[in-house]
Amino acid sequence: MSPHGNSHTHDQSHGRSHGHTHGHSQGHTHGDESFDFDWGVLSTQLEQEAEIRGPVYRQAAEWINGLLPAPGARRVLDIGSGPGVVAALLADVFPAAEVVAVDSTPELLEHTTARAERLGLGGRVSTRLAELPDAIPTLGEADVIWAGNSLHHLGDQRAALEGFAGRLRPGGVLALLEGGLSARHLPRDLGADMGRPGLEARFEARLAEWFTAMRSEQPGAVRETEDWPALLAAAGLEPSGTRSFLLDVPAPAPPLVREQLVRTFSRLRDKNLAEGAADDQEILDRLLDPEDPRGLLRRPDVFLLEVRTVHTARKV
Ligand SMILES: C[S@@+](CC[C@H](N)C(=O)[O-])C[C@H]1O[C@@H](n2cnc3c(N)ncnc32)[C@H](O)[C@@H]1O
Repeated sequence: MSPHGNSHTHDQSHGRSHGHTHGHSQGHTHGDESFDFDWGVLSTQLEQEAEIRGPVYRQAAEWINGLLPAPGARRVLDIGSGPGVVAALLADVFPAAEVVAVDSTPELLEHTTARAERLGLGGRVSTRLAELPDAIPTLGEADVIWAGNSLHHLGDQRAALEGFAGRLRPGGVLALLEGGLSARHLPRDLGADMGRPGLEARFEARLAEWFTAMRSEQPGAVRETEDWPALLAAAGLEPSGTRSFLLDVPAPAPPLVREQLVRTFSRLRDKNLAEGAADDQEILDRLLDPEDPRGLLRRPDVFLLEVRTVHTARKV
């Protein structure tokens, strides 16, 4: 599995640099790999990923809602909010709250505004263009701080958590969506030959290496053991529980899941993560062929099974 659990779908949303950066200075590379993500280009992928995982995020948000003292959240910060799928969902789950979507990518914040308006939430979802961690002290106070798939993009995660803890109102909750179990979509034995693990297991190992390199290349990177409850406690908060949520979409998966998988596997092929393994290229070519009955869009055995973990802590 990839260390932060969001499958290779998430990992692969971080492509090579497409020429401009958002917040990260130029030149974070590892071998031929660049970690200067062009998040704006990835908006459709991020949007699809979040939509597919909506039920899981909703369950997590409802759990967090139950951890809050009455009368619930008045201000929610969505840190590294991406295209705004989750910000809109948070506005729904916290009906009395103003939700502030915080991100360093202007295109994604534009998506967020459009989505909130489309859903009739425009009055309660606002956006804040901010480069973290520097901007943390300027974010204002909050009853809930949700950092979903975003903390690992900050070099010094411990310091960032301390910063977020300082923004919480008494009784407020900081929720980190980090880790879990990576997604699986295909039969285990697909590509398992010559004693090797199957295709997805091998990709996952490659992506775990990629993730470690990505972490170490973040500006100001500090190596931490990812013991999130301990790090939340070190930030002065009281851990209030860790829960893992299952995303279980049995075969045959609906078109959205397949489209997302095609995007992910296309990136794997383009980035040549299967480099040096010509047979993997062949398998990928076949999986990505829209006409092939054994391709991802048509084969009946595509599913989605994934676990996402949420760690929470309260300000006492
Ligand atoms: C993997 S996406 C997660 C999006 C969303 N939270 C979700 O779960 O669907 C990471 C997001 O963090 C944002 N981001 C990355 N580094 C950032 C930084 N230093 N400051 C602010 N936002 C950042 C990116 O623009 C991107 O939208």
